[in-house]
Amino acid sequence: MSTTENRVEFSSKLGFILSAAGSAVGLGNIWKFPGKAYACGGGAFLIIYLIIVAVVGTSVMMAEFTIGRKTHKGAVGALRELNSKYAWIGGLGVLTGFIIVCYYCQVGGWAMYYIAAYITDVKTVWADPMAYFLNMLGANGLPIGALGWGFVFMVLTAWIISHGTAGIEKMSTILMPVLFVMLIGLMIRSCTLPGADEGLKYMLHVDFSTINGTAILTALGQAFFSLSLGMGVMITYASYLSREDNLVSNTAIVCTLDTLVALFAGFMIIPAVFATGIAPGMGGAFGFATLAGVFMAIPGGQFIGMLFYFLLFFAAITSSTSILEGCVAFLTEEKGMQRKTALIGCCVIMEIVGILYVLSQVYMNLKGIWISREGLQYPIFGDFLEYLTDRLLLPLGAFVTTFFVGWVWGPQNSIKEATGDGRNKFALAPAYAFIVKFIDPIAIGAIIVAGMVFGMAIS
Ligand code: TRP
Repeated sequence: MSTTENRVEFSSKLGFILSAAGSAVGLGNIWKFPGKAYACGGGAFLIIYLIIVAVVGTSVMMAEFTIGRKTHKGAVGALRELNSKYAWIGGLGVLTGFIIVCYYCQVGGWAMYYIAAYITDVKTVWADPMAYFLNMLGANGLPIGALGWGFVFMVLTAWIISHGTAGIEKMSTILMPVLFVMLIGLMIRSCTLPGADEGLKYMLHVDFSTINGTAILTALGQAFFSLSLGMGVMITYASYLSREDNLVSNTAIVCTLDTLVALFAGFMIIPAVFATGIAPGMGGAFGFATLAGVFMAIPGGQFIGMLFYFLLFFAAITSSTSILEGCVAFLTEEKGMQRKTALIGCCVIMEIVGILYVLSQVYMNLKGIWISREGLQYPIFGDFLEYLTDRLLLPLGAFVTTFFVGWVWGPQNSIKEATGDGRNKFALAPAYAFIVKFIDPIAIGAIIVAGMVFGMAIS
């Protein structure tokens, strides 16, 4: 990055794409997406998800990008500059991000746990992958290991933020493409496992009777989570872009890359579920327990597994830093806090919430400490945090962002910014104007309301 007009800009086009894609590609793609696709009916969910990304995801991303580059300010400042009455949208995003980062760091810690497990104890992992996973989360006593690694992951996230993200951005240029290629390789291996064709059928068979309000809400929340939308992160990233950058192609590239990674992960994990019979139970074991079946079936699987969890860890940390940075920037720029105080304060609360998140997965249920759902032992607190962010706060953030662009700032201003005053082509500009003004607010609003009315129950 280089400094122009006191504002840091990305030194290369690639730098921005990698940072935005680095924020987008993370645990959401590899740990969350396959689980949701599995729970919500496979093929039909994929179609709904793709439609939502293509229509709602791209337009909300474009809206955030244009707000950010127009003002060259972070989320709260940007909205204040365009219309001071709407600065609170940025504040809402910060709150959402903070809740996400609390549990995100813990799951990032699980990836580190698995790096260590594949190096030192792969035989035990492979002997019974599901038991190993549940054990990590406290099936046999306090989950000290998971909590320890979660703590390490959080401290690392905070450390990177306090030392600048330039280093990991450089590493991204190598590691993200490696992750991409590796996912393709693992996907092919998983799909060719004996018994995997049942999983492929499940993912390719489209049966819309499995789609209900919950599934649509799940797809919507997942799209926002995966694309890092609805909390102003992309506003902040685009604020570092120069007038020369093409927002139209950037939006297309980031959305496509992120969605491809999610699809690869889905077609890597679901066939493995069917081939190995390791059906994920509590604690979202997708990406952890189920994948063991794939690594076991590959020569050098121990090394490849370790490398995979390292890349997952890396993808997670480029996302966790992007979220926490937003929270810290808010506290320093808007609330006048010292950076160090803000960072330490955030970490203390993140650790407390994070501990509760991990304990609620398995340990508290088994001990009967946490209220379990009738008959089912469910990670109530963990579920609650994820529902709150994915099904309510992120859609809400995206809703107000599109409402703001569609009705307050105006689609034409956004399009002017997107095309750099007409210098870049934007063939879909009329469609964008229509979507951001009508389709997005109505669709997102309706889905949020439906979600609240029909309850937050997972189907
Ligand atoms: N998109 C990331 C993932 O898929 C998570 C993430 C990073 C995020 N920044 C965000 C989610 C901002 C919502 C908003 O793992």
